[in-house]
Amino acid sequence: MLEFEFKTKRLWVRPLEPTDYEACMRTRGRSQLSKAEMEGGSLAVSLSDRAEFGRMTDYRLDQMLEDRSYRFGVFVARTGEFIGEVMLFDVLRGNRQMASIGAIVHTAYRRQGYASEALRGLIRFGFRRLHLHRIEGQARPENAMSIHMCKSIGFQEEGTSAGRFKEGGRWFDALILAMVRGRKR
Ligand SMILES: CC(C)(COP(=O)(O)OP(=O)(O)OC[C@H]1O[C@@H](n2cnc3c(N)ncnc32)[C@H](O)[C@@H]1OP(=O)(O)O)[C@@H](O)C(=O)NCCC(=O)NCCS
Repeated sequence: MLEFEFKTKRLWVRPLEPTDYEACMRTRGRSQLSKAEMEGGSLAVSLSDRAEFGRMTDYRLDQMLEDRSYRFGVFVARTGEFIGEVMLFDVLRGNRQMASIGAIVHTAYRRQGYASEALRGLIRFGFRRLHLHRIEGQARPENAMSIHMCKSIGFQEEGTSAGRFKEGGRWFDALILAMVRGRKR
């Protein structure tokens, strides 16, 4: 059976479990996410109810078993602190073999290379274990930080996709960045 977790030099990246609720709430207390970040992507820290948190972990496990999306919690291996989430979602099989990628690192843990480290591990997981052929990142064109990060780990900018997603009741364009297995980065 496919193992849904991996380790990097400093991080343990794995599915969240109901017992991670306290760790997530501790990080939520230290994080200063914007309203849009809190509401945008079904984050673990946006659930402040233990039962809801448990339902979320079950749902995510089903999604993985159905090969639809892979959403992982990111923990500092040495301390066990929960620092964020990385995800491969919108998995397409058949003649596409692709997925979209995303990451969030909570504010107290930013600028320490954690997102890059976790995403590099997730890309390896996507290509080697999920046998994906293409991984796509989508960023708001004004999200310079996210675009810079994607490029620094090897994504190529492909262009703008019009009306790609809805946030806070408005449709936004997205800059598409991609990585293709076996192609020079
Ligand atoms: C984008 C995000 C995941 C980066 O997390 P992080 O752990 O701070 O990122 P890293 O420390 O690995 O830095 C990655 C690169 O981005 C750069 N970077 C990170 N934060 C930055 C900032 N505020 N301003 C400028 N550059 C920044 C780093 O210098 C690094 O570049 P380098 O490799 O050339 O040195 C985090 O800021 C976040 O969660 N933002 C909100 C959600 C989001 O936009 N997600 C992007 C989805 S792909």
